[in-house]
Amino acid sequence: MIEVQGLHKSLGGQEVLKGVDLLIPDGEITVILGRSGVGKSVLLKHLIGLIRPDRGRIILDGEDITRMGERQLIRIRKRFGMLFQEGALFDSFTVAENVAFPLLEHTSLSEREIEERVREKLRQVDLEDAWNKYPSELSGGMKKRAALARALALDPDIVLCDEPTSGLDPVAAATIEKLILETQRRLSKTFVVITHDLKTALSIGSRIALLEEGKIVVEGRPEEVLKSGHPLIEAYIEREEIGKEVGR
Ligand SMILES: Nc1ncnc2c1ncn2[C@@H]1O[C@H](COP(=O)(O)OP(=O)(O)O)[C@@H](O)[C@H]1O
Ligand SMILES: [Mg+2]
Repeated sequence: MIEVQGLHKSLGGQEVLKGVDLLIPDGEITVILGRSGVGKSVLLKHLIGLIRPDRGRIILDGEDITRMGERQLIRIRKRFGMLFQEGALFDSFTVAENVAFPLLEHTSLSEREIEERVREKLRQVDLEDAWNKYPSELSGGMKKRAALARALALDPDIVLCDEPTSGLDPVAAATIEKLILETQRRLSKTFVVITHDLKTALSIGSRIALLEEGKIVVEGRPEEVLKSGHPLIEAYIEREEIGKEVGR
């Protein structure tokens, strides 16, 4: 379990996080929903110690990671798999090499074991055929899937996904959502997914937390969030006509 307590962070002279409180339970998909620029990526980077808060704590299974030194953080980061917002694949590496990279860096597996592991991960995201392709040869959805395979390569306890569906057409977005749901169910891992898209939040979230003006303003199961009456949720529903699709 991850407990975020009173997290404050200013960046570039602007107070981005103003006291974020959030519980992230194990074995579920927690979605952090919020408008673009609200501080979602900044919050996510705090969870793996890439950014340190000005105030507040992040307790991971009883340990406050905000007080840890770099060496301890390296140990912590091994427990996380991260799908970055821009995919962040290495352009000069093939898909297989991208997925193999964390295994080469962080394990002492043999070449053959790595190949097997890469094959397994690519199969899980339905990308076996793209083994030898370079990122520039992939569609947006395939890039996200390759990035997900790489995030899963080290069998992390916790998977962080930053905007896994942004920039994708609805079909590719639905494929990624399904993949995240299936992966979570199969592996029972903890997922934290960031999105600005209420549709994505509703289709995959076990819990949804709405980040607005530096704080979590609504938090609960999808149906609770939909019924919260929060003006932002109402605006989302109106704009995307989500209500109709979920039978509201
Ligand atoms: N390293 C940084 N230096 C200065 N400002 C930053 C930095 N990282 C993020 N910000 C600012 O913090 C705010 C939140 O950014 P971000 O977390 O990326 O938003 P989003 O919710 O879209 O992921 C934005 O105003 C952004 O410009
Ligand atoms: Mg972001």
